[in-house]
Amino acid sequence: MSRVAVVTGGSRGIGAAISKALKAAGFNVAANYAGNDEAAAKFREETGIPVYKWDVSSYEACAAGLAQIEKDLGPIDVVVNNAGITRDGFFHKMTPDQWNAVINTNLNSLFNMCRPVIDGMRNRNFGRIICISSINGQKGQAGQANYSAAKAGEIGFVKALAQENASKGITVNAICPGYIGTEMVRAIAPEVLEKRILPQIPVGRLGEPEEIARIVAFLAADESGFITGSTLSANGGQYMA
Ligand code: CAA
Repeated sequence: MSRVAVVTGGSRGIGAAISKALKAAGFNVAANYAGNDEAAAKFREETGIPVYKWDVSSYEACAAGLAQIEKDLGPIDVVVNNAGITRDGFFHKMTPDQWNAVINTNLNSLFNMCRPVIDGMRNRNFGRIICISSINGQKGQAGQANYSAAKAGEIGFVKALAQENASKGITVNAICPGYIGTEMVRAIAPEVLEKRILPQIPVGRLGEPEEIARIVAFLAADESGFITGSTLSANGGQYMA
């Protein structure tokens, strides 16, 4: 029986590449998405991967969505917390809505997604939890006090959860992508992206979503049981933590 993997924000950007890579590695994948029905339908048609719509910032929605996936596909072995948003702006101009939206979607979602499945993983003595953090959680980024705080929080969450569950066959790891050529990064003003950010990347280009997805497939494998609590950077050399 294939292991079941859930990828949040799994129908677009880095998440879509992760869903496809896990499917190619033999997982039975469910892709969660929040809003873009058209992109999700296209993704399902192209990949054959089922899509499930809910908002990861809601605990009740996560619990219900995960229960539905377990009913449809079986017990969940792998959770990839990938869904994330940006609401960039300098802190002195940031509104409570910009702060709360990013903390709720990017950080509180980790509790919402992991709490409903952790008992099952512990009982079955197997689990893989992979959190897509960010270079900006490691180094901080001007204009992203909200996002940097959430992404740094993810790394702390991973280290705590890894310790609690190491004896139960569950690994918990963070991946910190640098600037990857997705819609999120391309939304940065071109002059900021080209003049300020690209020159900071020694490899000289944005990353590809597939370059993150292959790390997820590696960490999700049964054979990766000794890797836990780690933070793996993939940023073209922009920040060497
Ligand atoms: N540090 C300090 N000061 C800075 C700065 C920096 N990095 N960048 C700009 N400033 C200064 C500018 O020099 C300018 O100063 P003056 O007024 O004295 O000339 C002032 O701040 C205003 O700059 P902007 O005109 O750029 O301000 P803005 O309000 O139009 O835009 C911003 C601000 C939205 C934060 C914009 O700079 C921006 O988009 N920056 C990029 C933020 C970023 O990297 N986001 C990553 C998104 S992708 C992602 O999050 C994925 C991932 O994980 C990597």
